[in-house]
Amino acid sequence: MRITTPKNDIERVLFTGEQISERVRELGAALAEEYRDRQPLMVCILKGASVFYADLCRAMDCALFMDFIAVSSYGASSKSTGVVRIIKDLDSNITGRHVVIVEDIIDSGLTLRYLEELFASRKPASMKTVCLLDKPRHGGGSGADAVGFDIPDEFVVGYGLDYAGHYRNLPYIGVLKKEVYE
Ligand code: PRP
Repeated sequence: MRITTPKNDIERVLFTGEQISERVRELGAALAEEYRDRQPLMVCILKGASVFYADLCRAMDCALFMDFIAVSSYGASSKSTGVVRIIKDLDSNITGRHVVIVEDIIDSGLTLRYLEELFASRKPASMKTVCLLDKPRHGGGSGADAVGFDIPDEFVVGYGLDYAGHYRNLPYIGVLKKEVYE
């Protein structure tokens, strides 16, 4: 691992802060319209989705509730371990409520599948998934009901996404140089 500065470590910017803001505003407006009278429970999948979640919720001009669940599937590596661990569960009872799961990225799709099954077993009134970034690897269909951007199968960081805890605070999304993690 050779982490120096973002300027050195990022190969190229995929989406600027402005591009992200514009897309998040669109997603937020569509959700606000859809959930106007349903008071959705917005569920943030910590930690990666935190930045997207904060912006998305503020782009929704409607009543909503917030809750957080922390899961981990990657540890400190750049590859998925294939195991999803719940580190902090929701505080809310979601039975009978309109749940919107907010995720930052679908890679293998394992995390989302696991959470959708877990939440479905708690019998919400409805459930929808919004994901900022979608990789092609998990076989065509997105797995999320709404997607911000489709991205290539590369290691991306910034706007909440990390490598070994680094780069979450970058205001843009960029591709990490291979030499940083290889
Ligand atoms: C990352 C990301 C997604 C998941 C996607 O989380 O935030 O939750 O991996 O990968 P998958 O589709 O292959 O399951 P991570 O476990 O790294 O935790 P973090 O959000 O705290 O960074």
